[in-house]
Amino acid sequence: MHFAMPPRKTSRPPPYAVRNSRSSLNALFRRDRLRFLAVILLGCIGTIYLLGHLFSSASSEVIPAGTPLVVIVTAINKSWDPAFVEKIKKNRRDYAAQHGYTTFFPSSSDYSLRNAPLSWAKVPAMRHAMTLFPSSTYFWYLDPTAIIMNRSLSLTSHIMDKERLESLMIVNEPVVPPDSVIKTFDHLKGDRIDLVVAQDKDGLCQSGFIIRRGDWAKYFLDAWFDPLYRSYNFQKAEGHALEHIVQWHGTILAKLALIPQRTFNSYVPPPSGVKVPGVYAEGDFVANFIGCDRDKRNCADEMQPYFDHLAGKGPAESDD
Ligand SMILES: *[C@@H]1O[C@H](CO)[C@@H](O)[C@H](O)[C@H]1NC(C)=O
Ligand SMILES: *[C@@H]1O[C@H](CO)[C@@H](O)[C@H](O)[C@H]1NC(C)=O
Repeated sequence: MHFAMPPRKTSRPPPYAVRNSRSSLNALFRRDRLRFLAVILLGCIGTIYLLGHLFSSASSEVIPAGTPLVVIVTAINKSWDPAFVEKIKKNRRDYAAQHGYTTFFPSSSDYSLRNAPLSWAKVPAMRHAMTLFPSSTYFWYLDPTAIIMNRSLSLTSHIMDKERLESLMIVNEPVVPPDSVIKTFDHLKGDRIDLVVAQDKDGLCQSGFIIRRGDWAKYFLDAWFDPLYRSYNFQKAEGHALEHIVQWHGTILAKLALIPQRTFNSYVPPPSGVKVPGVYAEGDFVANFIGCDRDKRNCADEMQPYFDHLAGKGPAESDD
């Protein structure tokens, strides 16, 4: 800062000069000083803010009271029967209420997917949820073809707690069984994991996954949603794209925990009797009627006995 002052004036002690002067020159001097002080002050505040911000994002970020720890996200197909959709929503809401979590049900058609299959909607839906619940820790995507069956299991004690996750992680195994050359890491810490996906015998189950909020989560979802992957006609759409980025980006593999399928994605065999891996059994967390929205199957009919079972009316598995 440069003061254009006659030596006579500047030699006087500044505080008195400022307080007593009436001359325009001194007024100018005072304005400059004030401006100078203001700049210094702003600089200090900025530095403090920046430092505070850096440290808070690393450790002691303030999470507003009442923030739900977990957000359950299910993208809904608007053309489904509203009564059925209501059952799906109620299933998540009942579970969320029991644990102080919350739910988010966007429509698949809310998102611009260009010509990509609608099943891609889960990716922007998760990104959307993170903007709506900026302080929540975990975001659990669950396809509408699944029902939460064991409401007593919390997402943290059942999956995300550090020790629990470390005990579940599938380590040093091919990412995509049986013969992917890329193997899961074997030295990851549970509290460093930002993405949890179940693995079935064919690959990654993208019908359900958990993400821990943070910059990495945003990066991951953006990478997954890359227009290149959407336009590239992967046979299983977003599922194959996920398998691709997980295997080819070490930064993603380092944040990923693959866990046994039945931990949170047991499959219910279709009425046709076709075999599926990780078959649902009483007590499992989630029953997923995988593929019930395709091939002339009927999710509502297939799921009804399980809804009845949850409501205390009869066994889930029918005996016919
Ligand atoms: C939504 O439902 C319609 C009608 O059942 C179907 O044609 C469409 O493929 C479904 N979309 C998704 C994402 O399942
Ligand atoms: C839920 O899971 C726990 C732990 O595996 C089990 O003890 C309990 O019986 C299950 N509850 C139901 C209703 O299936």
